[in-house]
Amino acid sequence: MLADGFHEIPRGKVAMVVTTLEMRTKMDIRPVTPPAGWELVRHTAPAVKWYRDLFRAVGQDWLWYGRSIISDATLSEIIHDPKVHIYTLQKDGVDGGLLELDFREAGQCELAYFGLAPALIGSGAGRFLMNNAIELAWAQAITRFHLHTCTIDSPQALPFYRRSGFVPVSQKFELADDPRIAHGYDRGLAPHIPIFDP
Ligand SMILES: CC(C)(COP(=O)(O)OP(=O)(O)OC[C@H]1O[C@@H](n2cnc3c(N)ncnc32)[C@H](O)[C@@H]1OP(=O)(O)O)[C@@H](O)C(=O)NCCC(=O)NCCS
Repeated sequence: MLADGFHEIPRGKVAMVVTTLEMRTKMDIRPVTPPAGWELVRHTAPAVKWYRDLFRAVGQDWLWYGRSIISDATLSEIIHDPKVHIYTLQKDGVDGGLLELDFREAGQCELAYFGLAPALIGSGAGRFLMNNAIELAWAQAITRFHLHTCTIDSPQALPFYRRSGFVPVSQKFELADDPRIAHGYDRGLAPHIPIFDP
């Protein structure tokens, strides 16, 4: 167990507090319409390159790295698993939001990835996407819908999830390579997190 007090974060790393939230029964939703022209689209056989581009477009401002550090073969296995359901918000063929529901654990659904590209943040698209997430998750035989969010994600995320009916149940401390140093992310990304080169 970590002792109380300050802990040195190694240079080149980022540190996060990760909160797990869960929903044990389906919450009622308040229907909303998406921003004009945007619709929810399911992708049953996404190309790895397409997925990687989308993941970067939605997540790079928040240093999402989970899918950037795995091989094409491993990523392909995940995104082509019939129990992993991938949706985007799409307008005129452009994808502006990612919703990934992972049903691989029996009786549960993990909201594995959820986010909007910068242009859609604060447009009402988040609520529309979440309403769909809740409906789609609980349309399957589950007793738990869960997710985690961390302190590098948008500060809007945790209150948004709580307003959606998710309850915080535990927290972890996570340490990871800074993707701006280790994985070639643009150094101008996530200015809210300082870079400490080794
Ligand atoms: C977390 C995230 C999805 C939240 O989305 P958001 O843009 O704040 O969401 P919205 O604008 O849809 O919703 C915010 C609130 O404003 C309302 N709203 C905002 N603009 C609106 C509009 N034009 N019309 C109607 N409602 C609007 C929404 O209904 C919602 O209210 P509610 O929660 O009471 O229903 C988004 O900030 C995001 O993708 N961030 C970056 C990635 C990220 O951090 N993801 C989470 C990782 S775990």
